[in-house]
Amino acid sequence: MILVTGATGTVGSEAVRLLSASHQPTRALVRDPSRVAHRDGLTDEIEIVTGDFGRPDTLDTALDGIDTVILVSPAVPGQEIAVIDSAVRQGVSHIVKITSKASADSPVDRRRGQARIEAHLEAAGLAYTLLRSNAYLQNLFALAPMIQQTQGFTMSAGEGQIGMIDARDVAAAATAVATAPDAHAGHTYWLTGPDLITYTDIAKQLSAALGHEVEYRRIRPDEHRAVMIRAGVPDAVATSNAQAFELIAEGDAAWLTSDVATLTGTAPRSLHTFITEHTAAFA
Ligand SMILES: NC(=O)c1ccc[n+]([C@@H]2O[C@H](COP(=O)([O-])OP(=O)(O)OC[C@H]3O[C@@H](n4cnc5c(N)ncnc54)[C@H](OP(=O)(O)O)[C@@H]3O)[C@@H](O)[C@H]2O)c1
Repeated sequence: MILVTGATGTVGSEAVRLLSASHQPTRALVRDPSRVAHRDGLTDEIEIVTGDFGRPDTLDTALDGIDTVILVSPAVPGQEIAVIDSAVRQGVSHIVKITSKASADSPVDRRRGQARIEAHLEAAGLAYTLLRSNAYLQNLFALAPMIQQTQGFTMSAGEGQIGMIDARDVAAAATAVATAPDAHAGHTYWLTGPDLITYTDIAKQLSAALGHEVEYRRIRPDEHRAVMIRAGVPDAVATSNAQAFELIAEGDAAWLTSDVATLTGTAPRSLHTFITEHTAAFA
């Protein structure tokens, strides 16, 4: 049986939907079962279990009888480490970890945090696969209110290119690995969309879809951090975001691979597809 954590989140909810559609016995870990009370067309193979990363007893219950975990969360190190420790206690065979371009010496705090989790996973002794993704297209939803109110958005990514990926393709890659884990043990996959894009490209494609100009207003990383904090983003998240956008401006996200198609057999979704499907969210 497969356990999906973060099952109400962007990647986790799509992973559960895909596993349901392919009738894979799956447990979905949620902290608020009312969020999935309606089950949204999920098949009988999907079991919902309530648990919290901060409460190890609930994790042991959730992981009892599980073979493979799709580990996705806001990536607070202590929380994912608690899931890994519980997986070891419960005899889980394989963890498919959703991660980013992590490294122990990154200037970005959350990338150092991911590196800590990965090091713990490596030392834990069970089989694992890392899915290291480029930035999600779904991050663009955070710009929607500003686009609606000001016909444009502020951003500090300069003209940096990004191999942006639709999080649904991250979920598809994760379910492909989780349903045939032995073939992927010890592998790291670098997941991207099909194209390198800039925020200028995003503004152009949104302009075409919405039928009015969407302006990309370039700001400095320190200004961007202040904008995010004023909008209610927690200080630490705003700092990490601003650092990540500064790196993007310097070319840090300008990487593309064919790993999504290798894992899923299908080409990843493009920016154009994403915007066409979600135009109403920006209008
Ligand atoms: N965004 C990007 O561009 C990007 C790029 C590369 C990699 N990543 C990686 O993707 C991962 C995030 O994936 P995502 O965007 O799918 O996450 P998300 O949408 O933020 O979802 C987070 C999930 O974790 C659950 N959760 C939060 N705290 C919890 C707790 N204490 N106990 C149990 N569940 C809890 C949330 O439940 P509730 O619904 O109850 O809050 C939600 O289901 C991170 O590892 C990140 O580094 C992101």
